[in-house]
Amino acid sequence: MTVPLIARIGALVLATTAFYGYVGQMVPQKEVQPPAEVVLKSDLTTADMVKVGREIMEGKGLCLTCHTIGKSGALRFPDLAGVDGRAKSRVAGLSDVEYFAQSMYEPWAFIVPGFNPGMPPINKPPVGLTDQEILCVIAYLQTLGGTPTVTLQTKHHYNSGTTAAPPSQGVSPGGTQPEAPLKGEKR
Ligand code: HEC
Repeated sequence: MTVPLIARIGALVLATTAFYGYVGQMVPQKEVQPPAEVVLKSDLTTADMVKVGREIMEGKGLCLTCHTIGKSGALRFPDLAGVDGRAKSRVAGLSDVEYFAQSMYEPWAFIVPGFNPGMPPINKPPVGLTDQEILCVIAYLQTLGGTPTVTLQTKHHYNSGTTAAPPSQGVSPGGTQPEAPLKGEKR
């Protein structure tokens, strides 16, 4: 019995497609999901914020990929155990809340002695936490050597929308543009 050539080609195409389709679906499929968006209710209590803050630090905040809590020895990144106690006196004039906010929004503004700069600004991508999430992280950081005082309504330098110049120099209010053209730069 002779099968017409066109039918043989058709069968081959079908068989090949089926084979690749079969092999393709055997390859483990990794579903990539965007990080779950934590919707923060504005009536979150401080205790809830502490919990959320800890989860953020382990998860999307990436804090614990660098920082340890309760490790000593030669460390590349500052250990955060008891950090609230130090936060109150790190920078003259900054409360622990203000210091923590600064260390996340403008990590370069104060460099912990003995360490190198290298912490990314937490409100910008790739981490990109919201103001509210950062308040939760602050609540958790306060539990490390202190008592959490923040609520989601707490205002600090970076979320209060004030137009006062931020502590670091050369940054215009609310932006990252230099205030004056750099020397030799044409405008
Ligand atoms: C890529 C590594 C890295 C990541 C991620 C990171 N940090 Fe840091 N962090 C550092 C480094 C390096 C320093 C020390 C230099 C400095 O002061 O900026 C630091 C300093 C700090 C300090 C000051 C500690 C002190 O003793 O005064 C705090 C607070 C802090 N980080 C909190 C956080 C939090 C909260 C997160 C997550 C939202 C985070 N960091 C994510 C590297 C990182």
